[in-house]
Amino acid sequence: MRCKPSILACLLAATFGLSATAQAMTVGFSQIGSESGWRTSETESIKAEAQQRGIELKFSDAQQKQENQIKALRSFIAQGVDAILLAPVVETGWDQVLKEAKDAGIPVVLVDRGVKVKDESLYLTKVASDFVEEGRLAGSWLAAETSGKCDLVELQGTVGSSAAIDRKTGFGQVMDLFPRMHILRSQSGDFTRAGGKMVMESFLKAENGGKGLCAVYAHNDDMALGAIQAIKEAGLKPGKDLKVISIDAVPDIFKAMAEGETNATIELSPNLGGPAFDAIDAAKAGKEVPKWIKVQGPLYLPDTAAAEYQRRSK
Ligand code: AHR
Repeated sequence: MRCKPSILACLLAATFGLSATAQAMTVGFSQIGSESGWRTSETESIKAEAQQRGIELKFSDAQQKQENQIKALRSFIAQGVDAILLAPVVETGWDQVLKEAKDAGIPVVLVDRGVKVKDESLYLTKVASDFVEEGRLAGSWLAAETSGKCDLVELQGTVGSSAAIDRKTGFGQVMDLFPRMHILRSQSGDFTRAGGKMVMESFLKAENGGKGLCAVYAHNDDMALGAIQAIKEAGLKPGKDLKVISIDAVPDIFKAMAEGETNATIELSPNLGGPAFDAIDAAKAGKEVPKWIKVQGPLYLPDTAAAEYQRRSK
């Protein structure tokens, strides 16, 4: 049994029969950055999960740049880590570096976002929600809420990311069913609060101060929070004059919802470390691992917002 980083953990493993693999692993984690509250929670949750399992986690923050993620992956490979977690900022451009990891015998687990590669065996599994389904859920809620009649704007996530592509696709599928629902404007706010505010300001300017608009669909809560600020500064009431729906379920959106300034959010769990490390353990024990480990989250509405805010901001 290899005992790193903690001898105590190793002794515990030997004494209590815990998995030797889980106790001894070194895992590289290439994170996208810290663009949103959700991302920060995901980072904290994965670090905490690694620590709890006695895993040595080598963390790299890519500052939203794919080239930094590719460099980080190459460095993890050179260091001979046991496995890699990758939260890919965009979908394409990963074939070569994933092949290098595979050739080195290092399993790669995608966390939260997906990739488009020619050969799916280049990664072990993806631990992520179904972003298309999230978009459909958002669209269905809005259609029901507006009786299928609404001129709206859309704040997209990072260009080229699976989260933005799929959330747009799912939402668009529902819009196509309702001839009186129209996405008048759609632009990326890069999943940030500042981006959401800036793009919303330009939408409001271009749409007669927002007077004819019925709703905003934001691909994440942080952009919705930025949009709420822009709507208020334009003299309108977010959540009332314009309905607001977004995705993530971070504490701040529940605060805004409890204050009547937004209408709905769909939960994306940030706790992806547990299933990701379990998948690595399973693969190392020679077990079959599904190609997609799905995480699911419900839609939250104002009736539980105050309680959710309290529960999540502890
Ligand atoms: O990929 C998931 C998305 O990325 C989250 O919804 C968003 O907040 C984050 O930045």
